Amino acid sequence: MNTYRIAVIAGDGIGQEVIPAGIDVLKTAAAQGGFTCELTDFPWGSAFYLRTGRMLDPDAIEQLLAFDAIYLGAIGDPRVADHVTARELILPLRQRLRQYVNLRPMRLLPGISSPLAGRSAADIDMVCVRENSEGEYCGIGGRLHAGTPDELAEQTGIFTRRGIERIARYAFTVARSRPRKLLASATKSNALQHAMVMWDEVVAEVAKEFPDVTCRKYHVDALAARMVTAPQTLDVIVASNLFGDILTDVGSAISGSLGVGPSGNINPDRTTPSMFEPIHGSAPDIAGKGVANPIAAIWAGAMMLDHLGERAAHDSILRAIERVIGDERVKTPDLGGRATTADMTKAVTGALTAQPA
Ligand code: NAI
Ligand code: MG
Repeated sequence: MNTYRIAVIAGDGIGQEVIPAGIDVLKTAAAQGGFTCELTDFPWGSAFYLRTGRMLDPDAIEQLLAFDAIYLGAIGDPRVADHVTARELILPLRQRLRQYVNLRPMRLLPGISSPLAGRSAADIDMVCVRENSEGEYCGIGGRLHAGTPDELAEQTGIFTRRGIERIARYAFTVARSRPRKLLASATKSNALQHAMVMWDEVVAEVAKEFPDVTCRKYHVDALAARMVTAPQTLDVIVASNLFGDILTDVGSAISGSLGVGPSGNINPDRTTPSMFEPIHGSAPDIAGKGVANPIAAIWAGAMMLDHLGERAAHDSILRAIERVIGDERVKTPDLGGRATTADMTKAVTGALTAQPA
């Protein structure tokens, strides 16, 4: 029997509620699929920071290298500045574990209504392949003369040929695997004449390896508008770190709720563990109430199983999610209902168990 070692960082706020829900579903899928998930909890996050002054153990990366994958909830606490939580936990893990792909499906599931009038599930089915290791979020820069009228801040974006080439190749491969085989490259080469002109050149070179994929470039502002006005024309999107971050929030908004969208931080070379998480944050406004929608975390768990080689288990969980959302009987408040996290989780495990193995 295959056994997968999974590091669990539930983190802050509703991370502590949706990750246990996701684990229930993982365990049900494992029992059905004949594999085992060996889970190890790590206490890292904002509460840990308030106790110890650090977001992570000093040897966190070394500890995580022993695992096959990482299952992350959310990180963020009103008592800790967001740049501390992001820069000292999420971004170092993504960078140091070489998770250079951030993969985010953006689908309107049947049963959820989009804020876009007249749009149904057939119109919104995209996936964003976001560069996750360099670009605008590389962290290089500094501040000078802080607090004085002469204060300055420099925030540098770093783009490498190698970094663009590998994210483009991954995106073309995803596009090739989908029926429409369309790739939209998010650029801004009119205004960012160094980095984004190189981005366009490298994407065009990689495109030659994929003659079966139709690739078009769009300026990122026009692409954001297109996601709203003509989402049915979009399939796979490849974008830099910042552009992808913004476009995927548009994508999750038009897909109905932040409580649904999953993401994978993936090292396709598989030399280090990849990390799977819901795209939402710690939602302090609803934390502790037991009403967070667990679907994003459950879907992220399914993506993790797919990455580990359990494709059938991924597909079964997705069918169970589609069934529960499509039935519209169990809905958490973000979807307009009154169900709790526990109700939704039970509905998904129930739908999973009801499927022929
Ligand atoms: P958020 O995603 O936590 O919440 C935005 C809104 O969506 C809130 O009204 C919240 O209640 C709702 N929401 C989010 N997830 C939901 C779910 N599963 N079910 C039902 N409703 C849900 O974003 P916000 O408020 O901007 O950030 C809160 C904290 O989370 C901040 O500290 C932020 O830095 C952090 N954050 C962390 C992320 C991560 O760990 N990757 C990603 C985004 C934000
Ligand atoms: Mg974001």
